[in-house]
Amino acid sequence: MSSSKSSNVECVGKQDWTSEYNHIDCTRYYRELMDKGQIVERCEIVAKYTERCLLPLFQKWAIDLEKPLKFLDVLCCYGNDTLAYTNAYYQEDYAKTWASEETCYQIIKPRQFPVKTLGIDISVPALEFGKKAGIYDEIKTLDLNNLPDMDINFLEENCKRANILIMNSLNYIKEDQIHRIIDWFSGGKEPGMIAVGFIYPYDIPERISRYKEHLLEKLKFFGSVSMMNRYLREAEALSFGPEFGTWRRVYYEIWYLTRNE
Ligand SMILES: C[S@@+](CC[C@H](N)C(=O)[O-])C[C@H]1O[C@@H](n2cnc3c(N)ncnc32)[C@H](O)[C@@H]1O
Repeated sequence: MSSSKSSNVECVGKQDWTSEYNHIDCTRYYRELMDKGQIVERCEIVAKYTERCLLPLFQKWAIDLEKPLKFLDVLCCYGNDTLAYTNAYYQEDYAKTWASEETCYQIIKPRQFPVKTLGIDISVPALEFGKKAGIYDEIKTLDLNNLPDMDINFLEENCKRANILIMNSLNYIKEDQIHRIIDWFSGGKEPGMIAVGFIYPYDIPERISRYKEHLLEKLKFFGSVSMMNRYLREAEALSFGPEFGTWRRVYYEIWYLTRNE
C-alpha cells in the first residue's frame, strides 16, 4: 500500500503527520489529531453550523434539482470533515466509532440530505477506508501538486459539477492550484457552495488574504465561522511562537461562498 509523503509547500516547522494520514484506518488520525489535538471540536462546530445555516439550503437545492447533491471533499483524508457536513457528526459520534479498530467502519448517523460524495486525496489507505466505511461513494487518488493532463480534466469536471466543495489543509498544496480549484468551482452551472478552511498561521497570512480576495472576486460571500484547529506539538510551538505569537494552538476560519446565479 502506498505511503505518500505529505509535504507542506512553504510552512516550516509544522509537524509531519504522514504516518497518521497513511494508516490502514482512521484510528491513529483520530487519536493523534482529533482527540489529542482536539480537531474533533471544530468538526462538531461545523456540524452544528451546517444544521443551523446550510441544511435548509442543501435540502432546497436537492428538491429543485430533483437529484442528490454532489459533494466533493478535496484533501479529504479519512473523511472527518465530510462526516461533519453530510452526517452531522458530533464529538461523541467520532469518539464512539473512530477511536477503535472494531467500530471505525460504522456510521452511526444517516446522511442529512440527499447527497453523493467524492473524496480526493493523495493517501490511498485513507481513501480506501473512506470508501469501505461508506463515507465516500467515490474516491480518487490525486497528488494535487503534480497532476497529469488526464487528472487535471477529472478535477476540473468534478469541481464544476460539485454542488458542495469543501477544502482544508491548504498548506499542502501549491498556491496556484488552490486558485485553479476556486476558478473551476465558480465555473459550475448548478447551485453551489464552497467551504474553504484557513489555518492560521500555517496557511501563511499573506496567502490567506490572496485566497480570500480571489474567492470574493469569483463567488458570493455567504458566511464564516471561527474556531480552534488543534493544539501544537512542542517543536511546532517553538518554531511558530516568535513570529506569530501562538505557542499552544493553531486557529481556523471557514469561509462559505455560493456560486453567483
Ligand atoms: C489534515 S488532513 C485533512 C483532513 C481534513 N480535511 C481536515 O482538514 O481535518 C491533510 C490531507 O492532505 C493530504 N495531502 C497532502 N498532500 C497532498 C497532495 N499533494 N495531494 C493530495 N492530498 C494531499 C494528506 O494525505 C492528508 O490526508
